[in-house]
Parts: sequence; C-alpha cells; structure tokens
Amino acid sequence: MRIKRGFRLIFTTMNEWFSQHLINWYEKNKRDLPWRNQTDPYKIWLSEIILQQTQVVQGTSYYLKFIDKYPTILNLANASEDEVLKLWQGLGYYSRARNLHTTAKEIVSSFNGKFPNDYSSVRGLKGIGDYTAAAICSFSFNLPYAVLDGNVFRFLSRLFGVETPIDIGEGKKEFQLLANELLDKEKPGQHNQSIMEFGSQFCKVHQPNCHQCVFSEKCQAFKTNSVNRLPVKIKKTKTKNRYFNYVVFIDKNNNVLLNKRSENDIWKGLYEFYLSESKTEIPIQELIKLDNIEKIAGQKFDLLHVSKTYKHILSHQILYSKFFVLKIGSGFKKTINHTPIHNLKEYAFSRLIEKFLDDCNLMDLV
Ligand code: ADE
Repeated sequence: MRIKRGFRLIFTTMNEWFSQHLINWYEKNKRDLPWRNQTDPYKIWLSEIILQQTQVVQGTSYYLKFIDKYPTILNLANASEDEVLKLWQGLGYYSRARNLHTTAKEIVSSFNGKFPNDYSSVRGLKGIGDYTAAAICSFSFNLPYAVLDGNVFRFLSRLFGVETPIDIGEGKKEFQLLANELLDKEKPGQHNQSIMEFGSQFCKVHQPNCHQCVFSEKCQAFKTNSVNRLPVKIKKTKTKNRYFNYVVFIDKNNNVLLNKRSENDIWKGLYEFYLSESKTEIPIQELIKLDNIEKIAGQKFDLLHVSKTYKHILSHQILYSKFFVLKIGSGFKKTINHTPIHNLKEYAFSRLIEKFLDDCNLMDLV
C-alpha cells in the first residue's frame, strides 16, 4: 500500500514536471496567432478546421477573411454554400468548408445559435473528430480532453520511445492513453496548446535541435539515437494516376459551359468545365470521338488553345489534366449551364482550375 502510494506520488510529480516545463517553454516561445488569447468556440472551431490540412502560414489569411465576412455563427449559417466555397477557394479539401457550413446551420437550429459546451455534443457535430473536439473543449471551456495530432504523436513517440505505429488503431489508443495521462487537468487548454506548439516548433520532423531541448535528458529517442526513425508509420498510401481532359466550351456569345460537381468527392459543390476522364493522355481528335463532344459543339468549332499538362497532387491521387478551349459557332441551348467569361471569377473552382485560369486569359483567346 505504501509503495503504491509512493509510486503514485512520483508519477504525479513527473507529470507536473512535464507539464510545467512544457507550459514554461510555450509562454516564452509561442507564436502570436490571431485565434489565440481568446476563448470564443466559434473562432477556435474555425481555426482548427482550417488548420486540419493546412499550414499556419497559408491558413491565417483564410481565417481572417472568414472572421471578417462571418463574424458570428449566425452570419456563417445564413451564407449560401456557393459563397462559403468561394471564400474557401484555394485551401483544398472542400468537405471541410461544406461541413463547416452545415454545422453552423445545425448549431443555429438545434442549439439556438450557441456553440455547445460539452464534449459529446461538440464531438457529435459534423466535421468534428476526436482531435478537434478535444481542441475546442479544452481551449474554449478548459475541459480535460487531451489533443492528439501529428505533432503530439511525434513528440510523445520520441520522448517515451514508443515504437507502436501511429497509423493503426492500437497505436492511436496507446498514444491517446499516454496523452490523457500526461494532461494537466487544472490547465488542459494551456497544456494542449503547449504540447502542440512544442511538437510543431521544436520537436520538428527534420533536424530538431535536441541539444537545446529541455526534455533531452529524459528523451528515449535522443538517448538511443532514434529521433529520425520515430514516429513509426506502416501504411503506405497508394496513389492512383488519373487523366482529366477539361473541354472549355465557349459559345458565339462568349459564354462558357460550367457544371457544378455533384459527385460525393472532395470537389463536391465546386464548379468546373466539361470533364472527360481517360485512361491515359489523349489528343483532341480522340477526345472528340470518345465523348461525343460534337453533340455540344455542333459541326463547326475552332480549337483555340490546348494547355500544358497540369500535374495536381492530392492525398491519394495524381491528376494529369489538360484544358482544351473550343469556340463553337452557335449559342448554347437553354439546357446547358453557362456563364459569361467575365463572370467566371464569381464561381468557386478547384485549385487546379484556378491555376489554369491564372495562366490562360480566356478573354484574350476569343
Ligand atoms: N495546428 C492545429 N491547430 C493549431 C493551433 N491552434 N495553433 C497552431 N497550429 C495549429
């Protein structure tokens, strides 16, 4: 009994020592970021969704744009999906923006416009997983939920020399238990911010400065020279090559054919030109035959431009895309969705199409 108590005492002291060093480091070294030093759950939610797959340098301007245009949840809920996607344009992973909008509407209809302040309600919202729920609940409401993101995985795996792969269920469970155990239950928000910041700014993927690290004496990876080997991942992501042929149909009135993507994929809700996918790169002569493009174009059309091949890398796919600009002799039928060329900038496009439009001024071609 006495031994157990003594052990517990040492363990608690270790945790306190850990959290205190972490928080001291954070208070001296933290970056001044616009979503910090406040506890508004709407702002924290928005920043966390933006930062899920985006670096702070790129995400900051989007965060500021969103807060400026939609200062409250109600403003966001009342916007149209097209408008939200347009503001999100360029950030990628558009399901984040669609879920953000859906959830804002849900908070207005089911929670009277007030962000819920208990873990299970927050976790139950669309687009909010374990990490984001823990971040919101601890940063906004100081609730004791430990965050586990890529930076925390890396730091803990090195400090404790954990070799369990982080991309399998067993590893996630083990690391979550460890993060929970270490969490400072009195200051969970500050502790979580500190551990994430330490992981991202100090215990970096490449060449961390271990000789200056406050934890190096206790760091298993440092002691065993395995810093560059940890954390362990086993799953290799398979990438698939795809070939996209975009046909930019322009009619005699300088309208462009535009489709809104309805497929349930990362670009759902965005606009695009006529798209035909092929198994390899193909020339225009083949494309025309393949997809019955003459049905839209009629018998008379001019090929104004063929773009270079754009290589666009997504998480599991590489898209090789070409744009064929066709001017047709007649006006579009009413059943074809179209917009004047000069209105294109009003629509939300994938980064791939945006890049093409940056390179090629369609107005100069017609
Ligand atoms: N990455 C994810 N969340 C973050 C946050 N709140 N601050 C800095 N970087 C982050």
